[in-house]
Amino acid sequence: MVVVPTDKIKSGQILAAEVRDINGRLLLSKGQTIEPNHIRIFKIWGISEVQLAGADGNSDASDPQVASAMIEQTENSVKPLFCHVDLEHPAIKEIFRISVQFRCEHEIVVEGDGLNVDNQSIPRQSLEKDFLKKLRKKKIILPEIPSLAFQLKKVIENPMSSAEDIARVVSRSPSLTAVLLKIVNSSFYSLPSKISTVSHAVSLIGTQEISVLALGISVLSVFKNIPKQTIDMRSFIRHSLICGLLSRVFAAYKNIPHTEQLFVSGLLHDLGRLILYNYFPDESSNVLALSRKRNNLLYKEEKKYLGCDHAQLGVQLMRQWKLPLVLEDNISHHHKPSDAHQSVPATIVHLADIIGNSLGIGSSGEKYIPPLDENAWDKLNLPPSSFETIIGQATHQFHALDRILNA
Ligand SMILES: [Fe+2]
Ligand SMILES: [Fe+2]
Repeated sequence: MVVVPTDKIKSGQILAAEVRDINGRLLLSKGQTIEPNHIRIFKIWGISEVQLAGADGNSDASDPQVASAMIEQTENSVKPLFCHVDLEHPAIKEIFRISVQFRCEHEIVVEGDGLNVDNQSIPRQSLEKDFLKKLRKKKIILPEIPSLAFQLKKVIENPMSSAEDIARVVSRSPSLTAVLLKIVNSSFYSLPSKISTVSHAVSLIGTQEISVLALGISVLSVFKNIPKQTIDMRSFIRHSLICGLLSRVFAAYKNIPHTEQLFVSGLLHDLGRLILYNYFPDESSNVLALSRKRNNLLYKEEKKYLGCDHAQLGVQLMRQWKLPLVLEDNISHHHKPSDAHQSVPATIVHLADIIGNSLGIGSSGEKYIPPLDENAWDKLNLPPSSFETIIGQATHQFHALDRILNA
């Protein structure tokens, strides 16, 4: 199976996976033979690539021996990352399989993170307890939301907002305008002609979609100057982006309206970690070292030694910024979605985080695959067989956006 751009498809080829539009509507089924009018349909609906069976490819997989050795080696290196999850669970089993396949195809290797934890002394006394209490008492000043993001939030909340309203806000920032125009002209949307103004982009793509995209970009930009020795922001943004995109595609698949809210929930789910890395670099590196030393999940070590985890810290920031409540619920419970008021969207973000970590696309500091909340998963009512198509769409969109956001 190979992924082929729409403009390279020839009629007569066979689909290796079903094709759905951005709203999750089925366009063509797996196994269907491509006809000339199908290629036109893909272009109209913004499908920029599809998975084909038996297409020409130069993959090593053409040599069965090389392929099976590569898979075995990758399975062995990836398995330790899954030590906190139940590999026999059908959803995790499928995620593991896709993770191995994806890492083989994209040559993603499991790397050490350079933390020499055995020799590192971890001064426990420097670990600050009860961060939330301190934050509530306002002893720690959290970053202010940029005024632009605040105006964008107002546009999002107002159902009467027009294309001109959003264009007026976005155009106040030339850098945000440039990034947005690059995104709308990328294969993420695959629009037929070049878009040169924000108002044109809004009229084609929608006010909510563009405003939320802009809000997510401007919120992450608050932290863009964290020094590289504290956190690799490029890697952090990659993790955030793949979780946002997976959440969005999952939402479309489940026919949940306002997929853009799920996108921004995924994009900002680990926002609390940026507060830790930015404002408490010593404590962060201590907690990071402890999690590696004890082979424990980072968010569990955070809770143990800081009195709260990054999900709670992120919510604190969202409350201060008065971001929409739906984002707060999804972000607050992304490690335990069965506790959320609305468990389905929170479970989608939870699943996106598990998959994003499994694929090895970027990192927010967590080494291990977070465990699946099985109660929440059962309520989601999603067949694991849907993962391959969903992950295929999200990773394709990821490649289009990653180059732009990390430029
Ligand atoms: Fe997290
Ligand atoms: Fe995460």
